[in-house]
Amino acid sequence: MSLDHKITILDLREKKLSSHRITMLAAYDCPTASIIDRAGIDLILVGDSVAMVLLGREHTVSVTMEEMLHHCRAVAQGARHSLLIGDMPFLSYQADIGEAIHNAGRFLKEGGMDAVKLEGGLEISRTVRAIVDVGIPVMGHIGLTPQTISMLGGYRVQGKDLATAKALVDDALALEDAGAFSLLIEAVPGPVAGLITERLTIPTIGIGSGPSCNGQSLVFYDLIGFLDRPLPKFVKQFATVRSAILDAVKTYVEEVGAGTFPGPEHTYRIDDTVLEALTKELGKEVG
Ligand code: KIV
Repeated sequence: MSLDHKITILDLREKKLSSHRITMLAAYDCPTASIIDRAGIDLILVGDSVAMVLLGREHTVSVTMEEMLHHCRAVAQGARHSLLIGDMPFLSYQADIGEAIHNAGRFLKEGGMDAVKLEGGLEISRTVRAIVDVGIPVMGHIGLTPQTISMLGGYRVQGKDLATAKALVDDALALEDAGAFSLLIEAVPGPVAGLITERLTIPTIGIGSGPSCNGQSLVFYDLIGFLDRPLPKFVKQFATVRSAILDAVKTYVEEVGAGTFPGPEHTYRIDDTVLEALTKELGKEVG
């Protein structure tokens, strides 16, 4: 697909029908958005994982609407091709449907996003319906849902037994019925994600949920090997930029210490006659 074309939710449906895989990355800033947009990524999620990945926090629950909108605006400046999805933060949509609609609208009006993502299944399907009914596209998110990590008992695979796997299928169907345009499935056994994918007409995007989903997602900083933190089993590092950055900064420290940076090529010059006159002038002052 041409990079001049802005991806729409109809393109995603078309990709599912024609068995073309969908790509998504979570990203939080303008230069990153511009790189991944030019690489042809279909969906950019401004994820609430920003709290852990960029803001150094232990969980995602503390991130606020204002912080999310700040990162959304940065991403919207950098992307032209990818469909942009804003991740609704904890307690911006759970307490009240009116508030959920208002906050979802802020992602489009103030954040420059095209759609929003909400965590949860059956229990949030009425809210999803209400947001979709005012014309805001919604991506669902089931399986491992980090905003309710305390209820889940930690970052662990979901849907491993009959009852929880069946509940995930019911959640997925409820979200599709509520009008979600797509479903993110996180940390669910591959075959369970495959069964959900087969049953839905909307595309599924997997993160840690095997190859049968209609698309795949990762967090950009995990993919490039930027972070110094333990990564889940499902992450593949496609580059190791952390060590390249570390080497570059160490060399900078050495060169500044040795006086070899900045060299003449990094230094602005002035005309010799001006310099001579200036030196004379200053000499007069001192004298
Ligand atoms: O916040 C996030 O980055 C996510 C990931 C699961 C993609 O929701």
